[in-house]
Amino acid sequence: MFGLFKSSQFTPSKLFQTIHTDMHAHWLPSIDDGAKTLEEALQLITSLHQMGYRKLIATPHIMQDYYKNTPEIILEKLTLVKEAVASLPISITLEAAAEYYLDEWMLRQLQAGSPLLTFGERYLLFETAFLNRPPFLEEAIFLMKSQGYQPVFAHPERYVYLWEDATLLEQLYTQGVHLQINLNSLVGYYDKEAKKLAEQLLTQQRIGFVGTDCHHERHLVALQKIKKPSLLKNLAALPLLNKQI
Ligand SMILES: [Fe+2]
Repeated sequence: MFGLFKSSQFTPSKLFQTIHTDMHAHWLPSIDDGAKTLEEALQLITSLHQMGYRKLIATPHIMQDYYKNTPEIILEKLTLVKEAVASLPISITLEAAAEYYLDEWMLRQLQAGSPLLTFGERYLLFETAFLNRPPFLEEAIFLMKSQGYQPVFAHPERYVYLWEDATLLEQLYTQGVHLQINLNSLVGYYDKEAKKLAEQLLTQQRIGFVGTDCHHERHLVALQKIKKPSLLKNLAALPLLNKQI
């Protein structure tokens, strides 16, 4: 379908409309390090809609040491935000899942078969520590898959241990772990190395999902730098799963 667009038509707005669904963001208010208030949440949702998104999936952190969120807490917040958004003059679909931090608590949840929040076809978004590979990474992925979840690795381009071990990322991709890149990595918002790895995954067409990972308005301001025609074209050409959820 993307062959139908001429290169001049790859505007940021067209790109975000084509991506359709943002599946990684922190706009549910006051339950993690994202939006602090309902007003801030509504502002972020309005901005994402103005950018071109038509469906938003909030993914608050679940991290035993810092953010002890549960499916109940998250879904209750979603109801609150949906009620407030209903009074805004915009049409947008809102859902919620979670971004699970792979710690020992999460491993125990997987071992116990506890119900976890997912989006789409049982896609399970997870993140890890930035510096060191969790010793139970493979075991956790095995447990996710054996319970019928489809693991989605949040922003792999940002992990130091993956910059140093290309084989591990290759192995995870080959095992069917979906890779989710933060769009802001491609404009250099994070580290130089994150940009480099994101560009490499883009060239290899190994990106399953893209997300804003939006915590605050500054993340959306940074996203306005996605303007380079070649970048817009390469992103639009990806067979992204965002469009199917
Ligand atoms: Fe996140």
